[in-house]
Amino acid sequence: MRKSIVVVGSLNLDLVARVKRLPNPGETIIGKDFNTYGGGKGANQAVALARLGAPVKMIGKLGSDGFAKQLNDGLNDAGVDTSLLQYTTGSSGTALITTAEDGENTIVVIPGANGALLPEDLERHREQIEQAAMVLGQLEIQAATTECLGRLTQAAGVPFILDPAPAYSLSQDLLRSVTWLTPNETEAQLLLDAHYPGRQLSSPPEVADQLLKLGVRNVILKLGARGVYMAGADVENTYVDGFKVQVVDTTAAGDAFNGAFAFAVCEKGMAPRDAAHFACAVAAISVTRAGAQTSMPRLAECDAFLKKSKPKFLA
Ligand code: RIB
Repeated sequence: MRKSIVVVGSLNLDLVARVKRLPNPGETIIGKDFNTYGGGKGANQAVALARLGAPVKMIGKLGSDGFAKQLNDGLNDAGVDTSLLQYTTGSSGTALITTAEDGENTIVVIPGANGALLPEDLERHREQIEQAAMVLGQLEIQAATTECLGRLTQAAGVPFILDPAPAYSLSQDLLRSVTWLTPNETEAQLLLDAHYPGRQLSSPPEVADQLLKLGVRNVILKLGARGVYMAGADVENTYVDGFKVQVVDTTAAGDAFNGAFAFAVCEKGMAPRDAAHFACAVAAISVTRAGAQTSMPRLAECDAFLKKSKPKFLA
């Protein structure tokens, strides 16, 4: 039987102001427009997987407000199995996002119900986690819950992709449970600062090497439009190039990458390098449109994109 991919993490309603440029601290600027989108790193990764055609279950927590129904409906419409979502009293997760014309953004996350997802909630769904083809996590839920997720996946031998965003210092136990760690450069620096204070790292191979020394099995260092650098036990050390596209909104590009990478490995049986190439294409498509979950492409669109596009640095 086809195994599900399980995403454990956050669901946020994204409140998005579009502006010409990001304001400086203390500055007031007039924005262009305002929209709400389904977001949250966990939910975005689940939608990325579902749009591509993967069977995906989401474990997370919603509040008792109106946003909860909107977020749940958004996942259902995308094809995510929401039967494992739980509810608590109070507000759902929200994210205040400002998106500039050049595609850059700032994000403030208010965890709300996401912060109430506890280790015992994962224990309740232990069987689903243990039977998953792969488990995806991020860091917008309580640290203790992520630690518990690492323990459960490791004990069951289930591959675990951890997106360390937003980054904070991670325990060695958690790092040792991770199959694929997928930080961007800023997040990698933050993770390493905790273990090697004051040490300046320069090149992606050096950063990846230091992260591997902390015990993770593989690292995919996200380099934005440049693509990724991969290293570890299951892949030869390599750069995978990004694609040149017209950037509209970079929100959730990293989530698109993680969902697509998991899809390519689990559903298409791709080797990690090929999966990263596919995931770079999916992330590139996602930045050409506004919003988080709204920007996740379907498989046919990705296949068409890959047929006509060359990676940026390989022309
Ligand atoms: O990764 C993008 C996401 O970060 C947004 O959707 C927002 O909700 C925050 O979680």
